[in-house]
Amino acid sequence: MTSFGWSGGFAASAGEIGYMPKVTIDGQEIEVAAGTTILQACQQVGVEIAHFCYHERLAIAGNCRMCLVEVEKSPKPVASCAMPVAEGNVIHTNRRPRSRRATASWKCC
Ligand code: FES
Repeated sequence: MTSFGWSGGFAASAGEIGYMPKVTIDGQEIEVAAGTTILQACQQVGVEIAHFCYHERLAIAGNCRMCLVEVEKSPKPVASCAMPVAEGNVIHTNRRPRSRRATASWKCC
């Protein structure tokens, strides 16, 4: 059995080389390279996600939570800059994540 060792945590075993997960972003289906983050996949389909602590040339911090999106079957909103896509992800960027709704209502009262 061939092993490629540690590959950054997101990637590829021998059977997954060239693997392109299919995801749906706001109703648009797209295939992206394995290891692509949700934020990058959204940029590829022209969906802009506000972000603050993410920069493509820096290490991913994932601290500000500004880039939260909803992923179906995920119990909580996820930081799109830090989460790689997975096969079959259904991502909603135009919904206000539940935690933001809760925070917003808390701030308004
Ligand atoms: S941009 Fe800061 S957590 Fe994603």
